[in-house]
Amino acid sequence: MYAAVSGFRATGLGRILRTHCTGFKSISTAATRGGLPNHYTLPSGDKIPSVALGVWQAAKGEVGAAVKTALNAGYRHIDGAWIYGNEAEVGAAIKETGISREEIFITSKLWNSFHQPDDVAPALEESLKRLGTDYLDLYLIHWPVAFKKETTSDGKPIADLDLTNDPYPTWKALEKLVDSGKVKNIGPINSMSCRLQNLTANNLKHQPAVNQVELNFWNPQQDLVSWAGKNGVLLEAYSPLGSTQQVKETLSVPEIKAVAKELGITPAQAVISWHVQRGTIVLPKSVTPSRVEENFKVVKLPQESFDAIEKAATAHPPKRVVDPSKNWGVDVFED
Ligand SMILES: NC(=O)c1ccc[n+]([C@@H]2O[C@H](COP(=O)([O-])OP(=O)(O)OC[C@H]3O[C@@H](n4cnc5c(N)ncnc54)[C@H](OP(=O)(O)O)[C@@H]3O)[C@@H](O)[C@H]2O)c1
Repeated sequence: MYAAVSGFRATGLGRILRTHCTGFKSISTAATRGGLPNHYTLPSGDKIPSVALGVWQAAKGEVGAAVKTALNAGYRHIDGAWIYGNEAEVGAAIKETGISREEIFITSKLWNSFHQPDDVAPALEESLKRLGTDYLDLYLIHWPVAFKKETTSDGKPIADLDLTNDPYPTWKALEKLVDSGKVKNIGPINSMSCRLQNLTANNLKHQPAVNQVELNFWNPQQDLVSWAGKNGVLLEAYSPLGSTQQVKETLSVPEIKAVAKELGITPAQAVISWHVQRGTIVLPKSVTPSRVEENFKVVKLPQESFDAIEKAATAHPPKRVVDPSKNWGVDVFED
């Protein structure tokens, strides 16, 4: 539907990325943990920790405790968003740990309703206020879809196709936030085809720092991961365990269980380690204290164990776990 309305043709991801994603250069890794990178270095020079606590669907009343458990366990990276509705509790929990702001990498995301350039700075201000901080380490465009202010009569969002097809006006507003010092790095999410091409074809003042995409056992996107590794594009793996709907199935996969058993780690640790070993940042969410601690302990998998998970993950047809396309009436992923 989206392609028909906009007149864009579907174009192969690999070709587009090869042609246009030159902006994401310079991933280097810093200090290792469990034999895996503890950080990657962004084009800005900032270090981004390889394992973050994700806080989507982390309910109010639970998320603060999860954040404190995480920071006390050694996490220094929180992946949040305005739309998650829990930024105030996340911010309060960060403060309560007494860990200095500079030590923690905080991400938030610009919601679809705020893509109009004039709405970008006020949206950031609201997130900053809720989080109780005066800057973000990373501000991402939450989805490559802009919403109009009005909704349908039954309350569904209406896509603003002009701003969806061409996110450059939104990007320029984000670049101003970088210039102001209120945001250190900016990036798109789930932007992989025409829309990213439309963005990176411009002479960008600030390049995308990362691209956050769904990566998990069910949707491993092997070609993308491999291309990204070779071309200095840093990916962040969201829903890395398969999200709430699929986590049980993920942790029951025979190959994952076998690797975990052999190495004396848990299936979740095997999966999270696999993500980091693929060269991506990984954002597991949990509000269960023991799991928050468990998920932070990554280890380098022996090559045959890594290969066993990679092979099993790519042996079935890929299936996205999170896809809002139907609800929004837009082909979000164009794939
Ligand atoms: N950019 C985007 O559009 C986007 C979309 C989706 C997600 N994200 C980001 O990615 C983060 C992670 O994705 P996600 O929340 O979809 O899913 P996920 O991290 O793949 O899975 C979360 C689920 O796994 C469970 N879990 C966590 N650790 C476990 C363990 N060690 N053993 C057993 N179960 C475990 C959690 O349960 P409990 O919490 O009950 O422990 C929860 O039900 C989000 O929080 C968000 O920050 C971004």
